[in-house]
Amino acid sequence: MFVSENLSVNEKGNLTIGGTDTVELAKQYGTPLYVMDEQAVRKACQRFKNSIDKYYGGQGLACYASKAFSCLEMCRIVASEGMGLDAVSIGELYTAVKAGFDTSKIGFHGNNKTDEELEYAVDVKVGHIIVDNISELLRLEEIAKSKNVKPDIMFRIKPGIDAHTHDFIKTGQIDSKFGFALETGEAFEAVKRAIACENVNLMGLHCHIGSQIFDIDPFEEAGKVMLNFIAKIKNELGYEIKGLNLGGGFGIKYLNQHDPAPFETYMERVSEVVKNTCSELGITRPYIFIEPGRSISAPAGITLYTVGARKEIPNIRTYISVDGGMADSPRYILYKSEYEAIVANKATEERTEKVTIAGKCCESGDLIGENMPLQHAESGDIIAVCATGAYNYSMSSNYNRLQKPAVVFVNNGESRIAVKRETLDDIIRNDI
Ligand code: LLP
Repeated sequence: MFVSENLSVNEKGNLTIGGTDTVELAKQYGTPLYVMDEQAVRKACQRFKNSIDKYYGGQGLACYASKAFSCLEMCRIVASEGMGLDAVSIGELYTAVKAGFDTSKIGFHGNNKTDEELEYAVDVKVGHIIVDNISELLRLEEIAKSKNVKPDIMFRIKPGIDAHTHDFIKTGQIDSKFGFALETGEAFEAVKRAIACENVNLMGLHCHIGSQIFDIDPFEEAGKVMLNFIAKIKNELGYEIKGLNLGGGFGIKYLNQHDPAPFETYMERVSEVVKNTCSELGITRPYIFIEPGRSISAPAGITLYTVGARKEIPNIRTYISVDGGMADSPRYILYKSEYEAIVANKATEERTEKVTIAGKCCESGDLIGENMPLQHAESGDIIAVCATGAYNYSMSSNYNRLQKPAVVFVNNGESRIAVKRETLDDIIRNDI
């Protein structure tokens, strides 16, 4: 009935998430409120892990892409499921370290890492650093030499695959700021330089073709391209690349009409392609990494708002204004992303209207969505926006000096705060 499996309706007619009444959550913690369902996160982690076991003989590691949603509690939950982690900044790394994450399972990303970030990654002994460009390789080599260590690295490669998704979240094509290009020979030259370095160990290659991808074909294509490159390195340089990171990007259901391939199917098909291509090319099967972000956190989350004003503009549209907006939910203004919304205290009622849900920021584009089917909403109603667990909290801002909402985890009917709501003093805490 609803877009995410963990949503339901209780005997009061209120929307529930993970068995917890969302209207009660709004009362207890206030709105806007991010709610995350712990069991949904855990189940998603288990699906990734089990699929690697089943289809690729356990010779791989699923690393949660923490840019999707990171806080101490999320890192602790993901760690307890035996996952690895993908961090893209010293802040994400620091969060994972403070959560007690096993750093040997962390891959450190970034297309423009600072020396401070590289030093920190080396000091906390991340499992591998995914090097994006030559200047980074040379700086890392220097840092590692000065510390007398030899960190494992991977190279970020642009496989030249066009994934069918929004332009802003495509990354595998040649015109991208991320990684080394294959077509131009840049990647091959970089591999030669890395092999010649004494203080880094090139253990793998990485690619990520984009995000919110529904189709498995481009993932298969990317796998083949990368394995061919691994074979070229073996044949021409006599060097064995042992790890292959195929990135993340698995699409999720934001609306009922969305139909992403189940992750198990992805893993089954990609494993087949990897096994077959390795036999054809006569290379050893690599250890595989994948980096799901959205598919782990998005369906687990919802955002709750309280309705303020209702504004009907005859023959034009009806605006329902809520107490949050682009500061906590920036994906509409950035990507025109679509979501399902439900009046949480009228969850059994028909959706009789199509409305524009607007935020409270001083900006016309500050919308949660347009043309959204919704139950008749009035001032004081609670609206739940579904599948918001990825790239909302993590991309939230203090625009208009709004306080960032709290994050609450629910678990089998219980709830607990994971991130406190910002106070007014938090808003000025760094002001002098
Ligand atoms: N690995 C790498 C190297 C990435 O760049 C990303 C996402 C992921 C993994 C995880 O992708 P996922 O499984 O979450 O699709 N802010 C945008 C999404 C940006 C994705 C950036 N990279 C959004 O809100 O849709």
